[in-house]
Amino acid sequence: MTFPATRLRRLRTTPALRSMIRETQLSPADFIYPLFVVHGRDVHKGIPSMPGVFHQSIDQLAAEARSVAALGIPAVILFGLPAEKDDIGGENFAADGIVQQAIRAIKDATPELIVMTDVCMCEYTDHGHCGIVRNGHIVNDETLEILQKVVTSHAEAGSDVVAPSGMMDGMVGAIRKALDGDGFSDVSILSYAVKYASSFYGPFRDAAQSPPQFGDRHSYQMDPANAREAIREARLDVEEGADMLMVKPATAYLDIVRRVRDSFDLPLAAYNVSGEYSMVKAAAANGWIDERKVTLEILTGIKRAGADMILTYHAKDAAAWLRERA
Ligand code: PBG
Repeated sequence: MTFPATRLRRLRTTPALRSMIRETQLSPADFIYPLFVVHGRDVHKGIPSMPGVFHQSIDQLAAEARSVAALGIPAVILFGLPAEKDDIGGENFAADGIVQQAIRAIKDATPELIVMTDVCMCEYTDHGHCGIVRNGHIVNDETLEILQKVVTSHAEAGSDVVAPSGMMDGMVGAIRKALDGDGFSDVSILSYAVKYASSFYGPFRDAAQSPPQFGDRHSYQMDPANAREAIREARLDVEEGADMLMVKPATAYLDIVRRVRDSFDLPLAAYNVSGEYSMVKAAAANGWIDERKVTLEILTGIKRAGADMILTYHAKDAAAWLRERA
């Protein structure tokens, strides 16, 4: 049937009709909220490159976790800034490391909130790379041994989900083996399976103080031009035992989100990264866009592309807006 018998505007006539036929429903339950945890007391310090995002000390986390949970957001993901950096990132797997303390503080305050932990070396190493460096190269297999120690320490502290983000080959299998060997077979793995070497991470590297001190991340993170390779990355992680997959960044990679969604049955997350966030904040601060509408449109687009979960710095604002709208 064609025009004039068919008129697509008919179902757009009223808000009720539009709502009834809406294909994608965005909800606070879709969000995972990233937190940056630092040493010290009473620290709640804005990160200049990411307005509305803070460095917070352990004593701030109970209140933060309660406010996240009260908004209906089911999960946080933790990033830690260590007291000192060294060549292997020792604090990364210390029993009283910053993230290990944060896990305990949040689990005490809000046992129902899912605690996820980013598992990577770049915040902890003095060279800022996501693996062990030898003769200017990032060596893969020795890095896996460190990641195994990291996940065990996170699991011991009470992490529910570990999320390896360093793009080392074999990381998921190595982590699964370590967790199972140490009695943590219930801890899940959300793999940053498809992570591109993206310039959209710029503001995060300020937030996590993790820029590489030499070279770049192109020898381990993916070339933004590649899509088929994303399927190979995801397939390997599925075979190694990933419970959930992630595509990162989100908005410039929605085709990848869709391809991974269509190729695998695992729950899929997309990371709406720092640069995507800060661009919206900057444009909104200039009065060039409507922050609320643009944010909800972006998050809806990510979900429509196939993401079940969205890691986003907008989570608290977006959750509050969605609750007002409901
Ligand atoms: C650590 C890590 C990064 C991000 C998440 N985990 C930085 C990087 O890979 O350089 C980026 C998150 C963001 O930009 O919001 N490897």
